[in-house]
Formats: sequence, C-alpha cells, structure tokens
Amino acid sequence: METKNLHFLSLTLLSLLHFSASFTPLDNYLLNCGSLSNTSLFNRVFAGDSYKPGSGSISLTNQNPPPNSPALYHTARVFTRISSYSFGIKKYGTHMVRFHFSPFVAQGFDLKAANFSVSVDRLVLLTDLHVRDNVLREYIMKIDTNVLEIVFTPLDNSGFAYVSAIEVFSAPEDLIVDYGAKLVSADVVEYKNLSSQVLETIYRINVGGSKLTPFNDTLWRDWVPDVDYLVLKSAAKRASTSNIPNYQRGGATREIAPDNVYMTAQEMNRDKAITDARFNITWEFPVGSNSGHLVRLHFCDIVSPALNLLYFNIYINGYAAYRDVDLSVLATNELASPLYIDFVVDSDVSGVIQISVGPSDLSSSVRMNAILNGAEIMRMVNVSHLQTEAVSKKKSIWILVGTVVGGFVILCFAIVAFLLALKRRKKKLKPAPAESVGWTPLRIYGGSSHSRMSERTALASPGPNGYHFLKIPFAELQLATNNFDKNLIVGSGGFGMVYKGVLRDNTKVAVKRGVPGSRQGLPEFQTEITVLSQIRHQHLVSLVGYCEEQSEMILVYEYMEKGPLKKHLYGSGLPTLSWKQRLEICIGSARGLHYLHTGFAQGIIHRDIKSTNILLDENYVPKVADFGLSRSGPCLNETHVSTGVKGSFGYLDPEYFRRQQLTDKSDVYSFGVVLFEVLCARPAVDPLVDREQVNLGEWAMQWQKKGMLEKIIDPHLVGQIKPGSLKKFGETAEKCLAEYGADRPTIGDVLWNLEYALQLQESRPRREVHEDGDINELPTNTIVPGDPATNARTEEGDGNGSLEINTSQVFSQLMTNDGR
Ligand SMILES: *[C@@H]1O[C@H](CO)[C@@H](O)[C@H](O)[C@H]1NC(C)=O
Ligand SMILES: *[C@@H]1O[C@H](CO)[C@@H](O)[C@H](O)[C@H]1NC(C)=O
Ligand SMILES: *[C@@H]1O[C@H](CO)[C@@H](O)[C@H](O)[C@H]1NC(C)=O
Ligand SMILES: *[C@@H]1O[C@H](CO)[C@@H](O)[C@H](O)[C@H]1NC(C)=O
Ligand SMILES: *[C@@H]1O[C@H](CO)[C@@H](O)[C@H](O)[C@H]1NC(C)=O
Ligand SMILES: *[C@@H]1O[C@H](CO)[C@@H](O)[C@H](O)[C@H]1NC(C)=O
Repeated sequence: METKNLHFLSLTLLSLLHFSASFTPLDNYLLNCGSLSNTSLFNRVFAGDSYKPGSGSISLTNQNPPPNSPALYHTARVFTRISSYSFGIKKYGTHMVRFHFSPFVAQGFDLKAANFSVSVDRLVLLTDLHVRDNVLREYIMKIDTNVLEIVFTPLDNSGFAYVSAIEVFSAPEDLIVDYGAKLVSADVVEYKNLSSQVLETIYRINVGGSKLTPFNDTLWRDWVPDVDYLVLKSAAKRASTSNIPNYQRGGATREIAPDNVYMTAQEMNRDKAITDARFNITWEFPVGSNSGHLVRLHFCDIVSPALNLLYFNIYINGYAAYRDVDLSVLATNELASPLYIDFVVDSDVSGVIQISVGPSDLSSSVRMNAILNGAEIMRMVNVSHLQTEAVSKKKSIWILVGTVVGGFVILCFAIVAFLLALKRRKKKLKPAPAESVGWTPLRIYGGSSHSRMSERTALASPGPNGYHFLKIPFAELQLATNNFDKNLIVGSGGFGMVYKGVLRDNTKVAVKRGVPGSRQGLPEFQTEITVLSQIRHQHLVSLVGYCEEQSEMILVYEYMEKGPLKKHLYGSGLPTLSWKQRLEICIGSARGLHYLHTGFAQGIIHRDIKSTNILLDENYVPKVADFGLSRSGPCLNETHVSTGVKGSFGYLDPEYFRRQQLTDKSDVYSFGVVLFEVLCARPAVDPLVDREQVNLGEWAMQWQKKGMLEKIIDPHLVGQIKPGSLKKFGETAEKCLAEYGADRPTIGDVLWNLEYALQLQESRPRREVHEDGDINELPTNTIVPGDPATNARTEEGDGNGSLEINTSQVFSQLMTNDGR
C-alpha cells in the first residue's frame, strides 16, 4: 500500500514536471461569458467578457448555483438578437473551439428554453440547440483567417441564445495531419484530407484507465473510462504501468494524448479462458447515423515482456481495418512507446460505431493478446452540407472595438448607439428589421502573453492580456531613438512628442511617446492599439508595436518619410504637388477611410480627419494616421471640446458638433474640408485673414455655389486643372460638406467621384466633358472605379430605405446626379 502511494506520488510529481514543459497555444482565448471577472477552472483562467449594457446582450448570474459547480458556470451571456464574438487569430492552422453551456434560471430567463444556432467562421455548426444539462461542445478545425467570428443566432421570434464559456486556442501542428489515416470500407485506402475537415468531438476514452480532467491533460481535454462501452466486460482485463511512456520513438506526442492514456489499457482477459481461445474485445459507441467519423485509436505496448510478441487485428464496424498490427514495428522497436492510428469510417444506419481488437493469425497460441489504450471518435462535420450563414447586413453595422481595459470606450459607443437609436425613432424613419436597428455587440478579443519582435507584423487584436505580441521593450526604443534625442523629434501633438527612430532590424519607425508619468491619454492610447492592431491597409498607417512599461506609453508606427500632407500644401516651402499628385493623394486617403468605414467587417469612425493626419511615404503614397485621440466617443465631450475642437476646428462636422451624434458622415465632412484644403492650399481655419475667409469650408462653399471655385484655387494649379476635373472635384467636396449627414455621400461615393475626377484630368479630350457632364462622354478607357461597391450598405439614417445598392446602381446614380 505504502509503495503504491509512493508510486502515485512520484507519478504525480512526474506529471507535474511534464506539465511544466507543456504546450502553450499561440492563440489562447478563454472567456467567462456574462461575467466581468476572471475565474479559473482546472488551473486555467477564464477572463470576463465584459460587454456593456445596451448591446442587446445580458449578463446573467445564477443566484442559486448547485453546490460544487464551478464558478465558470454561474454566469452566462444571453443574446436576444444576432450577436457575435470575434477573435484575432495569430497562427493559422488547426484550432480547438469549445463552447460550454450550463443552463439555469435567472431574471426571467430559463436557459433550458433557449433555442439558437452557433456559427463559427460562417459555418453553422450547432443549430436548434437547446441544452438541458451542462454540455461542452468541442470542434477541431483549421482556421486560416485573421479574425474568427463566432455568431449566436436566436431561433424563433421569441428566442434567445446563450453561452457560459468559450475557448478558442491553437492546437499543436501535428494534432491532425493529412497522411496515414485509413479510410475503412471493404478496401482500406489512405484518407488524405483530414486537416481540412471540421471535427466535432463525440467520445474521448481512456481505455482501461480512469477519468481524466482538463487538469490532467496536455490540451485540457476530458477523457472518460471505457467500461460503459464494452460489449462483453468479461472479455477485457485492465492493464497498467507506472512507467512513463517512451515518446521518443513512437508516433504520438504528449499532446496527442497524455501519459495517463498510454499508461493504461484493456487487454484480452485470458485468465479463465483456455489458452488458445480466440475472441475479440469489442466496444460500441452510439453516434449519429450516416456521417463520416474520425476514429483515432491509441496504443502503447505496456503488456508484452519483450518485442515482437504481440500481433492483433483491429476491426471497425465489422471491417478488418488493420490486420496483424505489430506495435513493436510501428513503434520502431521500442516497447511502451505510444502511437496512434487514424481511421475514417462512415457510420451506417445503425448509428453505432463498433471497434474490436482481437488476436491475429500471427499470434502464437501462448501469446494471444490484443490491446487498446485509448479511443477518440470525432464526427466529420459535413461542411458542404452546412448552411453558410448569409453575409448578412442585418448583423454588425458598426462593431464595437475595445479592450477589456478600455471598457469605457464601449460604454461610449453604447451611448452613441442609444442616441442614434433614439434619433431614429424620433425621425420616424421607415422601420428597419429589428436586427438592423441593433448594434451588434461585437468584441474583438486577442493577444496572448507571448511577444516576439518578429511577430509584430502579425495581425492582432486586443485581449484580456492586452496586445503583448506587439510589445516592444522600452530599452529597444531608447536604442532606436538615441535615448529620445531631441534632434530626432519629427512632430508633436496633444499626446506628446514623435521621434524618428530605427529599430535593430533597420526598420524606420515613428515613435510617439506620451508624456512620461502622465496617464492622460490612456484611453486614446488603448484605442489606437486596438484599432490599429486589427487593421492592415495600404492607406492606413500601420502600428509596428507599442510599449507600456512603468510610466511609459509609447506607440511605434511605420515611418512616413514625407510627413503630413499639410506640409506639402502650404506654409513649408516644400515643392508644390501637381494636381494629379493631389488627386492621387485624395483618392488614396479616401480608400483608407473607406476601408475603415466598411472593411474588415467593421465600421470604424476616424473622427479626426485632417491634413495633418494624412501622411505621405517616400513615394507620396498617402496613409491615414492617428486613430486614437478622438475615437473614444462623444461621451468624452469634455476632453473633446477642450482638445478635439481646438485641435480640429474647421474640420468638425457641424451636425456632430450640435447633436453629439457620431456617424461615418462626420468623417466625410472633415474629408470634404481636406479636399478644399488640397485645392486651395489654405488652412482649414486661418485666423489671420478676412472674417468671411477664416473658415475654409464655408468660404469655399460660397465660391463653389457661385460656380466660381476656380477663383480661389491654389495659384500653383492655375492652368493645370481641366475644367471637368475641377467641376467634379468641387461638387464632390460640396456634397461632403452638406449640412446634414444624411445628405452627404458615403466615402465610397466620394472615392468614385475622385477617381472620376482623375480620369477627367487624365483623359485626352476626345470631346471635352461638358459642363453638364453627360454619361456618354466618359473617356473611352473608363474603368468603373474599384469595387468598394461590394461593401455598399445602409447609410445611417439616410431614410431612403434602400438597404443595399450594387455597383452599377450606385455608379449610374452618380452619373445621374452628374447629369443634373
Ligand atoms: C427551435 O427553433 C427552430 C426554428 O425556428 C424550430 O424549428 C424548432 O422546433 C425549435 N425547437 C424548439 C424545441 O422549440
Ligand atoms: C480537402 O477538403 C477541402 C474541404 O472539404 C476541399 O476544399 C479541398 O479541395 C480538399 N482537398 C483535397 C486534396 O481533396
Ligand atoms: C487528474 O486530476 C485530478 C484533479 O482534477 C486529480 O485528482 C487526479 O488524481 C488526476 N488523475 C491523474 C491520473 O493524474
Ligand atoms: C472479431 O470481430 C470481427 C469483426 O466483427 C470478426 O470478423 C472476427 O471473426 C472476430 N474474431 C473472433 C475471434 O471472434
Ligand atoms: C455531405 O453533404 C453532401 C451534400 O448534401 C452529400 O452529397 C454528401 O454525401 C455528404 N457527405 C457525407 C460524408 O455525409
Ligand atoms: C484576468 O486575467 C487576465 C489574464 O488572463 C489578466 O491579465 C487580468 O489582469 C485579469 N483581471 C482581473 C480583474 O483579475
């Protein structure tokens, strides 16, 4: 007894040792849904998912949790309309996605009555789901997108969805591989395409052993004993060893299955049988009928005294799936060396998968035996069979982007959403379907605690731990900027100084350093990281990394050689830009902004568009910059009025200013001011000139309305701009500056018009486009601009009721407008 205990102790110690060198997933999200706080289960911390109210989701807490139930299951997130979570994915490839459902009754919700579907990556994996008991659903799937979206859709009109916990983490690369699997039928052939299947775990069996919890498993799996599935219990006898398996030679790793699986087995129970009796050990597993399954069998020869004594056959559903298995050979001449064999089988109408092992003809009568150490059965989700969730405009019109720490950002958005909803109601607009009014409560999670400089170009999202992989050590930045050498200062702003720097890998960077010690600007800092770490676009300045150490808040961007657009327009003595260059810069910036507004499944409002926030690289390619300082929503009005308004006066959307009402059209307004700035080479606000000229937007509009815009253009451009191009440009800017957001074009429309203006400038005048710009007079080589159209979508409160407009419609609409 005592020795046994000692054994156990050493075993435990050993396992602990092994765990310490355990697998660390690069993507690793564990969410405690419906809760603000962290809780741990089996030594893993599940972070609160902290939605804020007003987002169509409700945090429920079980007031009377059953005794001994883990805290993770005391809360749930309830969704009363289509809602989703998004997870930034850093490592493409196989991932585990798990959902925990633990129903209870609270606040009038009986979670047992929930009826909903869940889709992952647009595949509806769970549907018509009503969960009566605690369940865990696990999927193993390849994820090759930057952002994994998990969408909950309530079914029935009165329905709601819920979830208790979610796990998304990257699996070891060799967990599911494309070679070696055997397709079991009359002829066993190789099955080659395993890794692209979506697998749903049905059974995970520790044959001959005990229940294993996530605490005992390298990939936090549950394994259950096999006895309930044994057809004839007396045929099998448990075998076990206290020696840690020898992984070097076998085909399996500790992540494929933990030690405990390989250290126990069932073997033939020959104690009472006559020596040469041949029989099988058989297990039966009820599964759904008519679908493909992956059956993974685990072996480790812990029963033979020497090599090459054990020969057995494996049967699946009556087929000889593998004859004359010789574990010694498979394990390259090593005993007790773990390996696994994958079989792909179709379940038949019986809906049962039957697995047998029995002695092979090669067995000598004295050594007849057969073993099995573990079994996993995973349903191959028939992806071709699944509905893919419609790319619905109902969902996610605007998405909340925020960090857990920056929860207040979300609050602001929620308030804005509320204000918008209120406004809509007041305006009595044509009622939209319930979902489209709603603000999809969408959060981006991301980040794990592993940071390496080399990964900083990867796409990241905010996470419970922040964005560690984008982190750059302070020392590194000191080195890069010659310890923040004053001579390297290239700019300054409300946030602090901007330095030019060179990282060790010779990347030129702009280092924006907050005033050390001042936590002022923390939300903006976080917002900027949040937004930028999710976005890569040719016309948006990218974030290289950041540093948040001690009292430092530093953002590191790609270096933009030519600096702000403003400098190239006036006041710096730099060479003037040609009209074509200016148009191209406007077009590029509009592209960047268009991407912000519509791309990446998200609408992001920049809120501080101005000529100093459009930066030019060495080739004058423009990139929109500075996402942080004003993104925190209008509930920051105090700060906003004192800094935002001062800083960006002249660009500010009057409607937004009056009503504190934020839409993407506010950016369009500011962009219109930039267009006039580009054309006239004058600041948006110039206090030194005559009163009526102080505000460029207003002043230029007067001239535009009089049809005499050419009178106020940059003198350098005189004679350079073709009348058609100028007319188009002026009209575009004018529309941007419309008093009401609803009357302004989308940035997509602006983009097309600018492209058109460029074409009008470039085209050889076959017939010069007349003042009335007839559609037939488009240059012959007209390319229908871009395809931002695929993203055409509802305009906030445009009230014309059309939800979606396709390219040609929009384009012809533009043309028609031109014709007026
Ligand atoms: C769940 O909703 C679906 C779709 O509306 C419906 O067909 C199904 O009967 C519902 N299930 C239950 C148990 O109400
Ligand atoms: C593997 O399966 C995926 C998804 O079913 C399919 O897109 C792909 O073409 C398949 N590859 C091969 C080699 O069969
Ligand atoms: C598995 O973990 C549990 C704790 O959850 C522990 O009590 C048990 O002894 C472990 N089993 C093995 C075989 O290590
Ligand atoms: C073991 O099971 C297989 C498949 O069901 C069967 O063909 C075989 O005869 C069985 N072997 C013995 C010894 O019963
Ligand atoms: C998957 O679904 C397709 C289309 O419904 C069907 O033709 C095919 O047989 C299914 N495959 C399996 C393995 O069930
Ligand atoms: C929650 O856990 C995360 C790590 O998973 C940690 O960064 C954060 O500080 C924790 N929050 C609280 C309130 O403990």
